[in-house]
Amino acid sequence: MAKMWAGRTDGVTSKLADDFNSSIHFDSRMFRQDITGSMAHAAMLGAKNIISQAEAEQIMDGLSGILEDIESGKLPFDMECEDIHMFVEQELTARIGDVGKKLHTARSRNDQVALDFRMYLRDEIDEIVELCTGLTRTVTDQAEAYADAIMPGYTHLQRAQPITFGHHLMAYAMMLLRDLGRLTDCRKRMNVSPIGSCALAGTTYDTDRVFEAEKLGFDAVCMNSIDGVSDRDFAIELLSALSILMMHLSRFSEEVILWCSWEFKFVELSDSFTTGSSIMPQKKNPDMAELCRGKTGRVYGDLMGLLTVMKGIPLAYNKDMQEDKEAVFDACDTVKMCLKVFAEMIAGMKAIPENMKSAAQKGFINATDLADYLVRKGLPFRTAYKISGGIVADCIARGLVLETYPMEDYQKHSPLIEEDVYSAVDLSVCVEKRISLGGTSVASVYKQIAFVREQLTAIF
Ligand code: ARG
Repeated sequence: MAKMWAGRTDGVTSKLADDFNSSIHFDSRMFRQDITGSMAHAAMLGAKNIISQAEAEQIMDGLSGILEDIESGKLPFDMECEDIHMFVEQELTARIGDVGKKLHTARSRNDQVALDFRMYLRDEIDEIVELCTGLTRTVTDQAEAYADAIMPGYTHLQRAQPITFGHHLMAYAMMLLRDLGRLTDCRKRMNVSPIGSCALAGTTYDTDRVFEAEKLGFDAVCMNSIDGVSDRDFAIELLSALSILMMHLSRFSEEVILWCSWEFKFVELSDSFTTGSSIMPQKKNPDMAELCRGKTGRVYGDLMGLLTVMKGIPLAYNKDMQEDKEAVFDACDTVKMCLKVFAEMIAGMKAIPENMKSAAQKGFINATDLADYLVRKGLPFRTAYKISGGIVADCIARGLVLETYPMEDYQKHSPLIEEDVYSAVDLSVCVEKRISLGGTSVASVYKQIAFVREQLTAIF
């Protein structure tokens, strides 16, 4: 059959070329946006007397019937159509006759696809923001539950200083909060209407782009028609925000995986979010976390793919740009799944504070506190650091810890050390003393929890 765009050519293409060219198998998911966009366009054409009011209404009725029938499953997509835009127009004309052919006045598929894509993605952002907010709440609730569970904090994956599990979890809540900021920020720049840019140069009809944009919930219109049809920054920006979000989930996953190992045993995941092994009966594998870590690569790939597609394209629309959608759809689907699974996994995660505590008791994570103690007794920090290092070395050689190191030995290293040293190196005291803003003391962690909850209420 000849294509709807038959004109200069007879519109008959080879089956192979059709298959290669067609995008309906993935852009059909934008049917709602395509139809609502077309309804606004028809309304504008009618309001501006570019077509008659009666024709506009006929078109809008036809479109709403199509929407209803697709939604109810009555109308399947015709996979012979090149894309969703062609499908809707073809169906409209089949239903209401030649009036349907008037819909495409003063627009092009180039501005239409840019419109649909922006509308589709802003809805995706709303969903992702909701899921990410949910996860942030879950992480914050868990932080509250373990606000005073002492564990070793690490640098270089070496035990460094005592912190609480609540404090550690709140670090992830802060990351997720920034992700939410990036997503909502990206949505603002995305919510600008390209419709009316037409093929690239605008149109000779007296259109009202603002009318259409307002009808479709946009905050503004693209101010350059060439940019309107050529810009995919909004998609790239979203992919960047999603990549950063996945990087956070991946780091979190990595820690959950470590914490679940027998080497750490800091947490236990619920049975429903772990898997067994087909051969090793003792296994309880953190597959969900591993998959989130793995899928991060996939989302990065989507970002790199689209950046690469866009990098050499001259203005304005080129068919290369049809490659934009699958990458972003894939990233959105992946992120939504990961956020859902992650939130449930974290909600069901139980910490094992005894194991965290006993890990904290090894590794001299209170050595900084010993040095700080000597500073309080009047020594310069570097000198205090050196003396503490000597004490730690002696402890290691003799299999001792700072908490029970004999007083006479302490005094050999410095006569300034007295009985109160034992309280200074007590892990709970070490944690409680870190009252600096953002520090690990329980009071400070509660402040962080309150801060995040307040920010989340501002988003919703
Ligand atoms: N299916 C196309 C896409 O996704 C729609 C735009 C087609 N425009 C064109 N001039 N061929 O990009």
